[in-house]
Amino acid sequence: MKQLMAANWKMYKTREEAGETLKELASLLTGMPENREVVIFAPFTCLNACSDTLKNETRISLGAQDCYPQKEGAFTGEVSPGMILDCGADYVLTGHSERRSILNESDDFVGSKTSFALKNGLKTILCVGESLEERDGGKLEEVLVRQLQTGLKDVPDDTSPDCLAIAYEPVWAIGTGRVAGPEEILESHAVVRKFLKIRFARQGASRRILYGGSVKAENAAAIMQLENVNGVLVGGASLRADSFSRIVLA
Ligand code: 13P
Repeated sequence: MKQLMAANWKMYKTREEAGETLKELASLLTGMPENREVVIFAPFTCLNACSDTLKNETRISLGAQDCYPQKEGAFTGEVSPGMILDCGADYVLTGHSERRSILNESDDFVGSKTSFALKNGLKTILCVGESLEERDGGKLEEVLVRQLQTGLKDVPDDTSPDCLAIAYEPVWAIGTGRVAGPEEILESHAVVRKFLKIRFARQGASRRILYGGSVKAENAAAIMQLENVNGVLVGGASLRADSFSRIVLA
């Protein structure tokens, strides 16, 4: 199982800025260990330009940050999995907490996106995570299991581990500088692993679980060593090639 080092650029970067960051990143990743895979989740508007920049680059994959669960139609402002593939990307994120909270996406809608994206050929990372209120109220397991159960409701049992990963991102650690401690990460990733083993049987043990939330070059190596951490999903510290490359090589 390769460790998945993912960058979520959120709503940052013009095409030119994206291209420059990727060129710098590719040169900084010379000597990247074989057991690491890199994916950049860029804004829709940059996907084509990023794909052109990466055309001779096999170590870095490209993804979109969201998709709509229909092939085409009257869905103003939305983007389908087929359109994402057409732009040269083959990954997508579903259920990011910013979409759940700011855009009111329900567990059910996230589930529809996840199964539709997979069915239409996109490798998918389903994001789950609890708020501080939920954690403090002792609801960690309940929230994660609910998000996983509904998020994966129509996903076939035999979905390959290469095509579907889970990102655990505690809402209180995103963009706050407050990284979850080792105990908190271990506890949450164990809940996700237990769920995956029941849901996918043997495939559940080899499915990747990423941690996200204030990952930086300084804390990445320690986080990557924890049990059941098979990669990271990085926001702020992924915007600059130098800091993201230090995370990838940590
Ligand atoms: P930060 O790394 O900026 O905390 O963001 C995490 C995140 O939301 C990645 O999807």
